[in-house]
Amino acid sequence: MATISMQVRPEDLSQVPKGGERIPEPGILVIFGASGDLTKRKLLPALFHLRQANLLPKEFAIVGVARRPLGDEFAADMREGIVEFGDAEEKDPKLDEFVKHISYFPLNFDDGNSYAGLKAELDRIGKEKNIGGNRLFYLATAPEFFAGIIENLGAQGMAQPEKGIAAVVIEKPFGHDLESARELNHQVNAVFHESQVFRIDHYLGKETVQNLLVFRFANGIFEPVWNRNFIDHVQITVAETLGVEGRGPFYEKAGALRDVVQNHMMELLSLVALEPPASFEAESVRREKLKVWQAIPSIPILNTVRGQYGPGIVGGQHVAGYRDEERVNPESGTETFAALRLEIENWRWAGVPFYLRAGKRMKKRATEISIQFKQPPLLIFNRMQTDGPCGEIQPNLLTIRIQPDEGIALRFGTKVPTTPQMNVCPVNMDFDYESVFGKSRANGYERLLLDAMLGDQTLFSHRDGVETTWALYTPILQAWAAKKPEVFPNYFAGSWGPECADHLLEQTGHKWRNDLGRKA
Ligand code: BG6
Repeated sequence: MATISMQVRPEDLSQVPKGGERIPEPGILVIFGASGDLTKRKLLPALFHLRQANLLPKEFAIVGVARRPLGDEFAADMREGIVEFGDAEEKDPKLDEFVKHISYFPLNFDDGNSYAGLKAELDRIGKEKNIGGNRLFYLATAPEFFAGIIENLGAQGMAQPEKGIAAVVIEKPFGHDLESARELNHQVNAVFHESQVFRIDHYLGKETVQNLLVFRFANGIFEPVWNRNFIDHVQITVAETLGVEGRGPFYEKAGALRDVVQNHMMELLSLVALEPPASFEAESVRREKLKVWQAIPSIPILNTVRGQYGPGIVGGQHVAGYRDEERVNPESGTETFAALRLEIENWRWAGVPFYLRAGKRMKKRATEISIQFKQPPLLIFNRMQTDGPCGEIQPNLLTIRIQPDEGIALRFGTKVPTTPQMNVCPVNMDFDYESVFGKSRANGYERLLLDAMLGDQTLFSHRDGVETTWALYTPILQAWAAKKPEVFPNYFAGSWGPECADHLLEQTGHKWRNDLGRKA
């Protein structure tokens, strides 16, 4: 397929937020579960990027909290992480300055008595560095510790301090079904007011995900056709080539539906489908997202497909099947692939199928949304281009590439030159983020951490949203748990998933798009 490049002004703009950004008030960021991968690979590099962009206050401290008895080696380890995963040179003096803000406090999350010690330590740092009473607690622990940590923070008066503001960031998974999510919400809101709670979904930190709102609402030409009159169907794919990467015990309990569909994919879907919010503010945006999720009727089990990968070849390498992964039950019934069809019953979308699919060990890494438009009402050219090079005339297709090569492409038909017949060929107008804005090592957490420090909840989930999406998926999880899958594994690693996922679309006359990624 041909590619037409867009007229762009190539400039190297960093994707770290900047320009007109507010700088948060002085405060201490307390990371629970700080010895885990997330802190080293994502959070600390993102914080360093914010520091580089002058978006952190001068009076600022990061305190890592975990069970291990660590001391100064924690800060040294974080420094290494920033060099390895972030945008920093080993000898960068700014990195040395930044690392001085990092310290560690060992604590057993379940031990209520040790939280007084943590409070005293934070007060000490606050005084010594002239930071005052603002605290942002980031829960990056295993989810079973969330409730206990929150209760203990509350018991020590750290959730509602006399001086300063406290807030809590809670990593996913937020519950494992509707009941547990409700219970966790209840425990959280018993200690923190909803305005202090930041339920994080790292997909909302991705540039292209945020750009969905800009694309739809800062451009005049797309909104008039963004509805059931012009759109035939929508596909959202989150395909990963990775397997479970040593996270067997976690993944065994999660599976693809809980791990990716209920959260990341529902966020993507809501941004595609929501009505124009009154403003780009937390209340407006979150209200419109909620309305989308509430308009989805329960998903019949027949419209769902689950899969599990067996051995296969990914990127030229032989890889093991899921059941042979480390610490995975050799008879596991956990799904590593999920696909489904749902509808949104409102005036804009009634009758438009939305197809979602997520899988590990797929043929290609690609997170993409594609919006397929209807064919023109009357085709004056031969639909079947039997005498031309391009096959059947294709409908317009808008693809939004979230990763790995972020961009937006619009497919349209064009006349093949010099042939006497009216041969129509599909070509792409393609916008590629990197070639316009340069490469960035920002990882998405910059935006989210900054917003949480500023108290802006726009890109975070509200309790009602989390419960509504769980309400949708809990019956499916229950039905799947009640009936063991008949043939698992049912797809080869390195394929596009099980055949039954293709049948799901064939029933409605559609096909998965498997030519994902940027066209050369
Ligand atoms: C996480 C899931 O939330 O998202 C992982 O737990 C998954 O299993 C990851 O691999 C995907 O995120 P990204 O940013 O790599 O698409």
